[in-house]
Amino acid sequence: MVNKILKARREKTHAECLFTERLSGSVKISGSKNAALSILAATLLTDEECVLENVPALDDVFVIFELLKRLGKEIMFSKNTAKIRGKAKHEDLPENLVRKLRASVLVMGPLLARRKKGSFAVPGGCALGERPIDIHLDGLRALGAEYKISQGRMVFGKRSLKGADIKLRFPSVGATENLLMAASGIPGKTVISNAAEEPEVHDLYLFLKAMGADISHVKNTYVISGKKRLAGCRFSVMPDRIEAGTFLLAAATVGGEVKVQNVIPGHLSSVTRALSATGAGVRIFSGGIKITAAARPEAADIETKSYPGFPTDLQPLWAVYMLKASGVSRIKENIFSGRFMYVDELKRLNAKMFLERDVLTVRPSRLSGASLLACDLRASAAMIIAGLASHGKTTVSDLSHLFRGYENFFKKLKLLGANVSIKGA
Ligand code: EPU
Repeated sequence: MVNKILKARREKTHAECLFTERLSGSVKISGSKNAALSILAATLLTDEECVLENVPALDDVFVIFELLKRLGKEIMFSKNTAKIRGKAKHEDLPENLVRKLRASVLVMGPLLARRKKGSFAVPGGCALGERPIDIHLDGLRALGAEYKISQGRMVFGKRSLKGADIKLRFPSVGATENLLMAASGIPGKTVISNAAEEPEVHDLYLFLKAMGADISHVKNTYVISGKKRLAGCRFSVMPDRIEAGTFLLAAATVGGEVKVQNVIPGHLSSVTRALSATGAGVRIFSGGIKITAAARPEAADIETKSYPGFPTDLQPLWAVYMLKASGVSRIKENIFSGRFMYVDELKRLNAKMFLERDVLTVRPSRLSGASLLACDLRASAAMIIAGLASHGKTTVSDLSHLFRGYENFFKKLKLLGANVSIKGA
């Protein structure tokens, strides 16, 4: 099943977008990629079977399946349900898999808790700029782990970990997840403060509790009393708030009226607030959000922040939206240094964007089609939506980024009336 999906995707190399008057109808949001990745890593904490529902069929998810298989797990995946069983074993993870997916660092915590030692490739930078993992490593050290770096690998010597008080220097999503998993599977009490509050971290917390972990959570602090054995369970992954935000912004940018279903509206408060400030109509209903695009949006400034602030993952899509605004807007990126790589590509569409350090100024622009090269996951979606808002034909190449993180993206867009098609070489 996974191989069939991957083969079909590899044959598709680029997307062609034509000007689209409006989007209309409803779209059902898939399970959250980032919640699924950490929850899948957490299955290493038990030998019993875990059944995960609402797992999106995405390339990043398939890479973590590969890692789990190398670590001794058996996986069956069908219709967005993953059944995972088997005992985790110690195995040096190959660099090519770790490099394919930065989130593979998430197996460190659960694996060290279970196997007490391990060797992991140092992940390196990525399309979003420098991506250090010092917060993960400082936390694991506080729990008693010791490692040395040798030939591009972090080699953790055999040590029994035990609970500790850890204050994160920054509320890193991945580090909070890694430490929550490690602390759940080792003896003693761990307190993680200044922890990330992103909904995906909360979903992992709910999954760990469903496995029998003893954790409590108040604001940005987690208190964990570790257990030697956690149990298998059945769990449904939360909806993908970033995919939902992508479709809200697609409708706001192209125009029209769209119901985005299977969403937890509270997860997107910062985004719906910002959309309302531009004049877009936002109506919350049970399990979803309906957006009615403004004829000519007003400009609104945003600044990316940790949750509940405006998500960095939606920043490129907001930038495209603001090209349609009636005035000048500014976007400040506070999370990832390299998150403006898409700007030069969008300029090929005649986008009037000016970057100065971490602030992007966006001026109203009449976009016209061009050939673009996708540079990261969220930027790929932003480029396709910009293509729908441009006059003439826009081609977006290298769809491998998009397939990492959006399930049935083109099918969903087409159902809303977008003039988009995907092509082979
Ligand atoms: N950071 C450090 N040291 C660390 C960890 C992080 O300096 O040890 C810095 C990062 O370099 C970055 C900032 O802290 O500047 C935030 O990083 P964080 O650890 O919070 O992010 P992450 O866990 O690497 C997850 C998502 C990202 C999302 C960010 C922010 C996953 C697999 N990835 O990354 O999602 O942008 O949180 O919300 O959960 C995406 O889905 O396209 C994506 C990039």
